[in-house]
Amino acid sequence: MMMRLDRWLTTLGCGSRSEVKQWIRDGQAAVNGRIIRDPAGSFEPGKDLLALHGRELDGRIMRHVVMHKPAGVLTAARDPKQKTVMDLLPDVYRSIGCMPVGRLDKDTTGILLFTCDGEMNHRLLSPSRHVKKRYRALAEGPMGAADVDAFARGMDLGDFVAQGAELEILRSGETSLAEVTIMEGKFHQVKRMFAAVGHEVIQLHRCTFGPLKLDENLPEGSWRELTEEELRALRLAAGMETR
Ligand code: URA
Repeated sequence: MMMRLDRWLTTLGCGSRSEVKQWIRDGQAAVNGRIIRDPAGSFEPGKDLLALHGRELDGRIMRHVVMHKPAGVLTAARDPKQKTVMDLLPDVYRSIGCMPVGRLDKDTTGILLFTCDGEMNHRLLSPSRHVKKRYRALAEGPMGAADVDAFARGMDLGDFVAQGAELEILRSGETSLAEVTIMEGKFHQVKRMFAAVGHEVIQLHRCTFGPLKLDENLPEGSWRELTEEELRALRLAAGMETR
């Protein structure tokens, strides 16, 4: 997609529209190694090479990120008081409109995706796409076959009926460790499903999102951009054309 040079620079968060216009007129911006003095000059972000004040910039305005969300941060674009997952990313991601795909609770850890592609974001969350998410839960009390059946049947949680979900019990005892796979993503869904069968969730961690598995080399609180292969798999899961 072609974009005006002044808009490209403001989208990247380099400055206000009037500032960048002035810089361009002053000969401070270059594309593909040539100084461009016309703010309306049209270029292709992600393809054409951009420099400002003599320094090369990463000009991509379409980016996708995977984060190992730590506990204690909100999944929100911004919050006046509390730290959000966006605060863990460099400012440019906010400027280009990279947004979390769905939400994890403040105390939930694990895989969280971000994308600038609003359509992909929407599609990945749509229940009709059946994008699976796997969570590992540490819950109170012993769990057994009755719980597996209850999850498999689906549950009436009052404001909505959760579809059947696959529950695998890894360890049962005073506290139990289990993994559950769901295709929806209603508010507090996993915790509410466990609570509905009498088990409070003590810790919750999301291990997978669709075709993507949390990279064990990604420490809590860190992130990286998706690889081409991961992006292709995600677009496929979203029912979008792969490029
Ligand atoms: N379900 C929950 O209860 N919490 C989360 O963070 C994600 C799914």
